[in-house]
Amino acid sequence: MSFDRSIKIAPSILSADFANFGAECAAIEAQGCDWVHVDVMDGHFVPNITFGPATCAAIRPHIKGVMDVHLMISPVDAYIDAFAQSGADVITAHLEAGPHIHRTLQAIRGAGAKAGLALNPGTPIEAVDYLLDMVDLVCVMTVNPGFGGQKFIQSQVSKVEKLRAMIGDRPIHIEIDGGVTVDTAPLVAAAGADVLVAGSAVFKGGSVHQPEVYGQNIRAIRAAATAAATAAASKAAV
Ligand code: DX5
Ligand code: ZN
Repeated sequence: MSFDRSIKIAPSILSADFANFGAECAAIEAQGCDWVHVDVMDGHFVPNITFGPATCAAIRPHIKGVMDVHLMISPVDAYIDAFAQSGADVITAHLEAGPHIHRTLQAIRGAGAKAGLALNPGTPIEAVDYLLDMVDLVCVMTVNPGFGGQKFIQSQVSKVEKLRAMIGDRPIHIEIDGGVTVDTAPLVAAAGADVLVAGSAVFKGGSVHQPEVYGQNIRAIRAAATAAATAAASKAAV
């Protein structure tokens, strides 16, 4: 996985057809997505249950690019090796999932995956201060985790701005997860985000039989975000 700050669209398969993950992953990649975002929920850390490492391993052969696994589970550490062995490129754990996030991040890198750190909307950005040298990605949740299709929480935009300043030149992705649409993507892209997770906004109106709709949705989000990021960069350069 090489690093750059260009806008990357990561559809969340939480909004895909659960009976057809392989074909859905192939369809979104063929339609131009950058990463595939995989939401793991345990019914304990969040009030919803999805699937575990066996499902990740089953869909892995259907994904050519980056498999981005978002763990909304607690405890986390006992499951890291299983998710790494399932073929996850990025494993993201929540700062709020336990008392020892530092150890969790060490374990993720130790298992050979890129380490992601996710923050719930109520968690202050200063909480990442002593963790920045241990992470490859920070995920700013712009909804409360657990469900797709929720409304974007506007207050998180300034959190992204602060995070971007804290990161400086470090090769750390800023990922946004929740309520990303053509209307909200420009706000976070201008604030410095580069990986945009989108579930409902990518899958709406399409299917594996009508995959071109996925492509239209992906291109619309990417165009809106890239324009905002470019405008913000030229404003900063003046
Ligand atoms: C929420 C998940 C998200 C979710 C995003 O708990 O982590 O990845 O699927 O869905 P949308 O884009 O519909 O808000
Ligand atoms: Zn997610």
